[in-house]
Amino acid sequence: MNEPLTLLGNRCPETFLAEYWQKQPLLIRDALPGFTSPISPEELAGLCCEAEVESRLVLEQADSAPWTVEYGPISENRFAELPKTHWTLLVQECNRYIPELAELREQFNFIPDWRVDDVMASYAPRQGSVGPHTDQYDVFLIQAHGTRRWQISTDPVPDDNFLPDIDLCIMREFTATTEWILHPGDMLYLPPGVAHHGVALEDNITLSVGFRAPSHAELLNSFAEHVASQLTPAQRFADPALRLQQHPGEISRDALTQVRGILQKVLADDTSIEQWFGEFITEAKNEHVPEEIETLDEHRFLQTFATKNRLHRNEQTRFAFIANNTALFINGQHYPLSAELAFAAPLLCDQHQWSHAQLQNELTQPGFAKLLTTLYNHAYVYFT
Ligand code: SIN
Ligand code: CO
Repeated sequence: MNEPLTLLGNRCPETFLAEYWQKQPLLIRDALPGFTSPISPEELAGLCCEAEVESRLVLEQADSAPWTVEYGPISENRFAELPKTHWTLLVQECNRYIPELAELREQFNFIPDWRVDDVMASYAPRQGSVGPHTDQYDVFLIQAHGTRRWQISTDPVPDDNFLPDIDLCIMREFTATTEWILHPGDMLYLPPGVAHHGVALEDNITLSVGFRAPSHAELLNSFAEHVASQLTPAQRFADPALRLQQHPGEISRDALTQVRGILQKVLADDTSIEQWFGEFITEAKNEHVPEEIETLDEHRFLQTFATKNRLHRNEQTRFAFIANNTALFINGQHYPLSAELAFAAPLLCDQHQWSHAQLQNELTQPGFAKLLTTLYNHAYVYFT
């Protein structure tokens, strides 16, 4: 992993992390040499017609509403009505539907998996843009087809520099500090908050590898919900040592100390924090429950694996683990592993496919085949 990566302009991942990640933008020419788009404009348009696919159409107009956004599913007829220029179609989570994009996402494994969100694809004809804006997340913008001019500004963006009344965070004023023209295979990394404006110079596809960064509010809400779900109604404020107060209207220091103690006790429980976080962060955004799959017992699973030879991780799943207490998390589910099975956590989380030969030794370890069978029966892994 400390080998230089072409993707990072022949930088070692450590150098990229130390000098650029969350710090400053980086343009990498030819990050993906000879890259051709694994998705066509027609395929993108097709995806937007599907109800379960998250998509948006952003139009720039000259009249009183300069920017409009329409949310998918988008009908085929709508495409026929669109002007020749000045619009962008954006499709979220394309890595779920296009295997090459799932593989592209894997190339970013110098960032922890749980931090990676999805690969979004956008198509724009000439002059198409979503306007100058900032994002709250890091992003790698990969030019997949055609050329696009990217302008960025590393100046701070005041909160009042956004257009009101539209569902997009478009900046009122934007002055570029740097600009580049990206060709297929070029990639631009932007940390959160850096203002950017990409305009298609011709028919153009951009892929965005986006990241997740839960807000503190989300973390606190989710953790509080997790803890609260495990408490009983009998666990409540009690004050058997209550002493007479001078002012009945006062909230005493003793009462406040007791309340703080209730909260501190919860936060002192590392196991509870770890279990909640693993579940929270691996929750799938729009989990697509697969059609009925034929469940297998362990014996049949092993037979099928030997015949089919290759087991794949379902592209719609999120795997992560926490070392030492060896907890495996998949799509918000917690699978505690015994010390003997601890080897399974990195083996299952670091790879996206496994050949039968590769797992031959592990399959003889007690509990491993049973674990794989359970994952298969939940459709977290599948055979090809
Ligand atoms: C785009 O692909 O058009 C927009 C991506 C972005 O600015 O984050
Ligand atoms: Co953006």
